[in-house]
Amino acid sequence: MQQPLIIANWKANLSPGEEVERARSIAQIALERGLSAFNGIDTPTLVLAPSAVGLVPVASLLQREYGNLAIEVAAQDCSAEGIGAHTGELVAANLVGIAASVIIGHSERRAAGDTDSSIGRKIAHAAAAGLRPILCVGDATQSAATEARVPEVVGQFERATAQAAAAGWPLDRLVAAGLVVAYEPLWAIGSHTPATPMDAMAVARGIQGAGNGLAIPVLYGGSVDAGNAASWCDETRGQADGALSGLLVGGASLDPRELLDIVGAATMPRR
Ligand code: 13P
Repeated sequence: MQQPLIIANWKANLSPGEEVERARSIAQIALERGLSAFNGIDTPTLVLAPSAVGLVPVASLLQREYGNLAIEVAAQDCSAEGIGAHTGELVAANLVGIAASVIIGHSERRAAGDTDSSIGRKIAHAAAAGLRPILCVGDATQSAATEARVPEVVGQFERATAQAAAAGWPLDRLVAAGLVVAYEPLWAIGSHTPATPMDAMAVARGIQGAGNGLAIPVLYGGSVDAGNAASWCDETRGQADGALSGLLVGGASLDPRELLDIVGAATMPRR
């Protein structure tokens, strides 16, 4: 992945109407700032992840009125089940034509019952539907040393991807399907205490090491804002061995100007 990937996770903060208005503001500000497309050479890819009920109106607004910006839409989760008689589930196949990617295994979903097994099956279903799986992993203890943190997070990655492999999607196929891993320490989410770029890169290298040489993009998420986004991106640049490929942003992504400031920080080389 050449460009930093910036994903805005709106969680359950907005009504569908508010999500459409935020998406419109983001697109308008992007146009004002001369960001003509998000999948071009000089700009990061921007992905908006609205609520399940906001997916269709946000995607149709972006396709209908701002198609030239190429802003993507992601779902915040999908079912561990495939298409069929699963009342109340949102299966990956339901998202085709609406979302391009799916966030899977976010710590807030793990707290609500997601397991390595269900996460692995979700990843497999997402990939089978042609959607890019964004697998979230994260450690629970801020005070843990990096040497303990890395194996904890790599273990989550290995268990989830082993489950996906058992469902017919080995890691090489997942990487070909666009698998992205997002490192989100639980203690950094919504706390205004992000992990250091160095710690995040240590985790990224651990995941990439576990990936047997496959090119697995790793994002960082947790208390990213316009003020600190550049530090992640500065660290990302010029790292011959890969390191970070972008940011997964929660609270700060609810403010369209701040989200685009984060995009700007990811785009502009700092001196
Ligand atoms: P915050 O950016 O609000 O810390 O949330 C991070 C997150 O959970 C994104 O998925």
